Amino acid sequence: GVPIEIGLAAIAPGQIISIFWRGKPIFIRHRTPDEIAKEQATKPSELMDPQSDADRVKAGREQWLVVFASCTHLGCIPLGKQGEWGGWFCPCHGSQYDASGRVRHGPAQLNLPVPPYAFVNDTTIRIG
Ligand code: FES
Repeated sequence: GVPIEIGLAAIAPGQIISIFWRGKPIFIRHRTPDEIAKEQATKPSELMDPQSDADRVKAGREQWLVVFASCTHLGCIPLGKQGEWGGWFCPCHGSQYDASGRVRHGPAQLNLPVPPYAFVNDTTIRIG
């Protein structure tokens, strides 16, 4: 697959955009300080698919979350900033994710995967 570069400068704190890579939808979320603090404070041992927030973002760039936009249950596109955990709510069967993209309520059992990506500079990422 061909890598793509995405500019982040226009994405305001609290905003989520969707892009396509290899035909798959991906969310890029500019997390607020409150969202970052909440996700960092969540203990992996409390989670269905235990993963720390630090394992899902880049060190020093914790405001940016990049995840595949397909519910890990049956692939619907979850709705951002909805649900009990403020991350995503899947309208198909009610799965919920937090602002780290970690599943918090089933029927999904797995976190939204993080695609391979890297920062090119402060305001640009390359996916792929
Ligand atoms: Fe999301 Fe079933 S596809 S809950």
